[in-house]
Order: sequence, then C-alpha cells, then structure tokens
Amino acid sequence: MTTPKPQIDEPSFTPAAGHHWLTPFYDLGLAALTRERRWRDALIAQIRPLRDDVIADLGCGTGSLLVRMAAVQPDATLIGLDPDPAVLALARAKLVRAGAKAELRQGFGRDANQVLSGRAATKIVSSLVFHQVPMAEKSAALAAAYAAMSPGGELHIADYGLQRTPLMRGLFRATVQKLDGFENTQPQAEGVLPELIVAAGFNEVEETRVIPTLSGSISLIRAIRR
Ligand SMILES: C[S@@+](CC[C@H](N)C(=O)[O-])C[C@H]1O[C@@H](n2cnc3c(N)ncnc32)[C@H](O)[C@@H]1O
Repeated sequence: MTTPKPQIDEPSFTPAAGHHWLTPFYDLGLAALTRERRWRDALIAQIRPLRDDVIADLGCGTGSLLVRMAAVQPDATLIGLDPDPAVLALARAKLVRAGAKAELRQGFGRDANQVLSGRAATKIVSSLVFHQVPMAEKSAALAAAYAAMSPGGELHIADYGLQRTPLMRGLFRATVQKLDGFENTQPQAEGVLPELIVAAGFNEVEETRVIPTLSGSISLIRAIRR
C-alpha cells in the first residue's frame, strides 16, 4: 500500500503579463500600454541610486529597472527577487546584454528579509507588482521590506494606484483587470497601498506623482523606514 502524499499548498503568483504564455511579450506590451519611459525615468530619479546603496527590487520581472539602476550607478549592490523562474531567465539575459551587474534570486516579496540574510537594504524598490498580489501578500511583502531595511532606508514603489477619473478607471478595467483579474487589482484601484505601507510601520508615506497611461494611472510612492 502506498502512503498518500500530504497536500502542500504551493504558493502561487500572477505572472508578469497575467498568463504564463504571454511572458515573452511582457516587455512589448508594457512599452505599448504604460508610457514606460516616463514612469521609469521618474522612478529612477526618485530612487537616486548611490554607490554604497544595497537595493532590492521586489518582483523584478524581466529586469528592466535593475538594468536602469545599474546604468545610473554601476557600483550599487542590486538584488532582484521574483517568484517566476521564466521571467528571471529573461532578466538574466537582459542583464548580460546590457553588461549590468545584479544578483537574481527566486522568491516572493514576503521572502525579502530572508533573501537579504543580514545585508540590510538601504532602499527597497518595486514596480508594477503590488497591484497583482493578493491583499495578505501585499502586507507580508511590506512587512518583509520593513524588516530587511536599515533605519533611514527608503521604499520606492511605482504601481497602479487610486484610479481617480472615469477614464482611468475604464482603461484600468479594460486592460490590467482583464489580464490580472479583479480580486487583487480592485483594492489597488481604490487606493489601498499607502495605508498598507503605513500599517507596515513606514513613515512619511507620500504619493509623489500620478502618471496617466493607456492602462490606468501609475502612482509613484515614497516612504521612509525610521
Ligand atoms: C507586472 S510584472 C512587473 C515586473 C517588473 N517589476 C517591471 O517593472 O517590469 C509583476 C512581477 O511580479 C512578480 N510577482 C508576482 N507575485 C509576486 C509576489 N508575491 N512577490 C514578488 N513578486 C511577485 C511576477 O512574477 C512578475 O514578474
């Protein structure tokens, strides 16, 4: 008689473009639908990578933000974390093509502290991740980010936030919510992220920019870990 295997719930995640088969087209879709250059440039200016920084990118995807941070500050220590091995393979290839240096690790946002294992991050960054993550995981990732950072550390997020106009709500519904589903994205569209960041213990939580795009408005957020 064989002993039945215990049921273990495998943690799951929404892939970069909503479905695994769309992952190779993620970068193209992003450029077409999000005015990528505009919000990434604004995010990089806000992050202001310095040579002594240890920066972790939660949900680094295909590595676009890591490549840009490395271009601005090649001496900074950059660590990309993502649960999806397929997207990490794309990130690895992109980093090689760009001659950029970054460590890539497989894991969820909630694993940030464990992955950094004692190397206190000076900055934690994340772009377009929280909107597609379940509520409990949003909070767990923010708690892990707080724990992984040194005092004075900075949190910088770019993501779909409060959709303030009927046009932005309509575009968000027709694009992001079609691909990523309603459950995880709707609280984000109602503006939940800043209050979750406060609840995780961060100070000076500020929405610094709101950038309208063809897929809804993208908010830039900054917070400090005191
Ligand atoms: C829309 S993509 C954004 C990728 C990248 N940050 C960018 O700016 O292009 C979202 C990424 O978050 C990752 N992801 C999904 N759930 C996650 C979680 N709980 N923690 C960390 N990353 C997650 C996905 O694998 C995917 O690569």
